[in-house]
Amino acid sequence: MSNSNIEHSSAEGVGAVIVDTVAIIGLGLIGGSFAKALKENGVARRVVGFDRRPEELKLGLSLGVIDEEAHTLKQAVEGADVVVLAVPVRAVDDVLAKVKADFKAGAILTDVGSVKGCFVKAVEHAFNDVANEHRPIVVPGHPIAGSEKSGVEAANSTLFLNHKVILTPLSDRTPEAVALVSSLWARCGATVLEMGVAHHDDVLAATSHLPHLIAFSLVDTLAGEGDSKEIFKYAAGGFRDFTRIAASDPVMWSDIFLSNSESTLKVLDHFADDLAALRDAIANQDSKTLLGVFTRAKAARDHFSKILSGQAYTTTMNTKNVIFKMKPGGEVKGTIRVAGDKSMSHRSIMLGSLADGVTEVEGFLEGEDSLATLQAFRDMGVVIEGPDEGRVKIYGVGINGLKQPPGPLYLGNSGTAMRLFAGLLAGQTFDTELTGDESLSKRPMERVAAPLREMGAIIETGEKGRPPMKIKGNCALKGMHYDMPMASAQVKSCLLLAGLYADGETSVIEPAPTRDHTERMLNGFGYPVKREGAKASLVGGGSLIATKIDVPADISSAAFFLVAASITPGAHLTLKHVGMNPTRVGIINILRAMGGSIEVSNESVVGGEPVADLTVSYRPLKGINIPEDQVPLAIDEFPVLFIAAVCAEGKTVLTGAEELRVKESDRIQVMADGLKAVGVDTVVTPDGIEIIGSEIGGGVVDSHGDHRIAMSFAVASLRAKGEITINDCANVATSFPNFEALAKQVGIQISVE
Ligand code: S3P
Repeated sequence: MSNSNIEHSSAEGVGAVIVDTVAIIGLGLIGGSFAKALKENGVARRVVGFDRRPEELKLGLSLGVIDEEAHTLKQAVEGADVVVLAVPVRAVDDVLAKVKADFKAGAILTDVGSVKGCFVKAVEHAFNDVANEHRPIVVPGHPIAGSEKSGVEAANSTLFLNHKVILTPLSDRTPEAVALVSSLWARCGATVLEMGVAHHDDVLAATSHLPHLIAFSLVDTLAGEGDSKEIFKYAAGGFRDFTRIAASDPVMWSDIFLSNSESTLKVLDHFADDLAALRDAIANQDSKTLLGVFTRAKAARDHFSKILSGQAYTTTMNTKNVIFKMKPGGEVKGTIRVAGDKSMSHRSIMLGSLADGVTEVEGFLEGEDSLATLQAFRDMGVVIEGPDEGRVKIYGVGINGLKQPPGPLYLGNSGTAMRLFAGLLAGQTFDTELTGDESLSKRPMERVAAPLREMGAIIETGEKGRPPMKIKGNCALKGMHYDMPMASAQVKSCLLLAGLYADGETSVIEPAPTRDHTERMLNGFGYPVKREGAKASLVGGGSLIATKIDVPADISSAAFFLVAASITPGAHLTLKHVGMNPTRVGIINILRAMGGSIEVSNESVVGGEPVADLTVSYRPLKGINIPEDQVPLAIDEFPVLFIAAVCAEGKTVLTGAEELRVKESDRIQVMADGLKAVGVDTVVTPDGIEIIGSEIGGGVVDSHGDHRIAMSFAVASLRAKGEITINDCANVATSFPNFEALAKQVGIQISVE
């Protein structure tokens, strides 16, 4: 761009751009506010205003909204480096026709209209016959801000603070011009986004235009109904909130609908159909449909910023850097019940959704991983009430009752969800796509995709066999026998779930026992799974019957406290109602082999799963060679077992654990790096680690967004000599949302920033 009247201070970068002259055409609320914000933030040396209403122009000048008034459009435009059109969308044609030949060379034309398609058309039409060198560089813009007030008197320089501005650069975009307009808005406090013109108009039709239409229409309907004063007198807060936008400027809004008619009609027709379906549901006393719509809508509203992107539901993404600050020392005392089992929580939603009838779950883990699974089923049309203090009610749709979700299913951080979904979605009649967060997007998916293909599924994985996974519907699956190359409960479960939809028998042999919750729970839902030694098998084509599920406390979450108490002199802690499935108790076996004191009491079997209370007391630990047959039984517990090993006397050696390298992080390397940061040297091997008992110092540890690494170093602080800072801990919420509270309760000195 060759405009010499735009300066960038190199010391401060683009953020410090100063434009010589900005012309604002139209001093309404938005134009006036932008003018004022540009002036107050020192972004423009001179702000010239024009308005077709002379009294508004005078007022703008006297209020200091603009520096100078232009008496004609031409006068405003000809000296300006940046011209901002802030007139109603349907007036753009007229204004451009008058000034199309008056722009100075290199000037930028931008606007603030709510509809971009018609602005772009108006620009094309206006400059059609103007020579290239006399055309301004056009950067369409739309600040998503406003109020019911209008006119220059309402101009407010903070109107855009923390609001979004969408720029829809054209195909012949000039990056410098886009960057400049972007920085003007950014300097006024806005967050600037870019998107395509058509996409903008579709998104806005759905998120802004339709709601305004409904608000105008509803207020009009009720105002015309009987004694309207009576209605408004009793109108409650909900009505007020909902219809606030019906007080907006009628002319502006009628312009918007006429200008964005195509996108608005599309979404309006869709809404009218859905409204008619709700009407029918009320008329037919159909509470299931009403509950379905309302529970889905509530979940969507709770997380609505993600919904606006047109995706299916996404759980709250952890973009914050949550930091654990751990004071050295502390105690471990009392009685606690840790969060519900993650593996069983996932499976309870999956099988409950596919069952006939209503499944009631208690003890459900309200962590982000299992919530992602829950919402994915809502997205596939399953009505699910809750969770409410661990209680969930699932209105099963039957084995063939799922519906195509509205977009990709976002599974956050959860490898279990993605791998198990792959199996059960391979058997559906519709296509699906599975996506996840940064950590999940790096994890291997071919381990499930390859055997599923052998069953007849059509699945694409991303680069290097990682997510996203694209799964084709309508594939006839055939049962098969699979000898698993690795001990993975996720692979086994994935294939058994695909097997529900396959012709004939599907069987899986595991090289070592892995958690068998899928087999147990399928049996609990009345679907027979046969177990012969290392082989689990089922025959496709059956159905599941709804049941009640009591999810015990997760032994993998209890593990942090088992180790905490084992390494802390004077500790004595009871953990209630812990899942004691024999395929999960490696942590207890290993800690006992190291000399740990863990007593088991109150043993019982709940819904086919053994549970018990565990009482742990401090006892000095010694290093051991961890038996390889314990590895799959303690696969998630090694990060915290490494902390136990550091606190033990002598050497602990782990082998046969290469699977740890493909968990939420490379748990061997990330733990070794974290231990180094607190002064503990280890020897890393391809399939394990060697740790010699030593003193733990203070330091800064990076958890790499891995929940179990973060919690392990929190436990390490009990024996540390200095403060440990643990970065990137937000994902603790995926498996153990109340970790901080329970850690504090027992005496661990944690604070969370
Ligand atoms: C899980 C199986 C394990 C475990 C994961 C949960 C499950 O993974 O690490 O946290 O619920 O099936 P692999 O089966 O990949 O070892």
